Amino acid sequence: MQNNIKNKKILITAGPTREYIDPVRFLSNESSGKMGYALAETLHNLGAVVYLVSGPVTISTIFPIEKIKYVSTGKQMYEECKLIFKKVDMAIFCAAVADYTPKVTSDIKIKKIEDETTLILEKNPDIAFEFGKIKTEQQKSIGFALETNNVIENAICKLKKKNFDFIVVNSPNKNEGFGYDTNKITILKKDITLTEYPLKSKQEVAHDIVKTMIEFF
Ligand code: CTP
Repeated sequence: MQNNIKNKKILITAGPTREYIDPVRFLSNESSGKMGYALAETLHNLGAVVYLVSGPVTISTIFPIEKIKYVSTGKQMYEECKLIFKKVDMAIFCAAVADYTPKVTSDIKIKKIEDETTLILEKNPDIAFEFGKIKTEQQKSIGFALETNNVIENAICKLKKKNFDFIVVNSPNKNEGFGYDTNKITILKKDITLTEYPLKSKQEVAHDIVKTMIEFF
């Protein structure tokens, strides 16, 4: 692979977030973090300066763990990324940030007293959208879109709304995306050209994504 990634500064968000209801309960999702970590490892091996901001994951990695910024909630992930974003050449938003978070988090464990209960949720910060608004001409960004229906239409909307340079589209089918070691992606660029890839390991998929990134440097 042509190595013009060396010394480039790249922010990667990875994994799920946990949105706490009380000290022992939270809302989250099935993201394993494997795709984000595979990208971090590939880029690190190519000599990029990778800033990996990770939600809670249980995977092993060859990426230097002392360089990982671990967070739990979407708000914490946003705050951590704010400290990093201005200095990077590129950002890859791979994290499955929870869209909503409980409006109130109880400091103490909630007791089951009522037969029914209601949880009021409020929107989490949309990290990719916020940085899409402030990114400079030189800065590039990549997003992911996990879609079950109207796949390409929804991905085009996200690409435009979040000001990505390209978006990696996948689906929650068996062996693809969330939790699996393999992924089947389509890359959709700003000029609305599509490139479909076969089912591959997440390491191979990371190489395909990085090959597309290289066009920007
Ligand atoms: N994203 C983010 N912060 C959020 C939500 C999403 O940075 N609060 C990023 C994801 O990392 C991904 C892209 O935005 O790169 C699209 O995420 P996705 O969950 O597919 O889309 P949403 O905008 O949350 O829309 P919806 O859930 O309605 O499909």
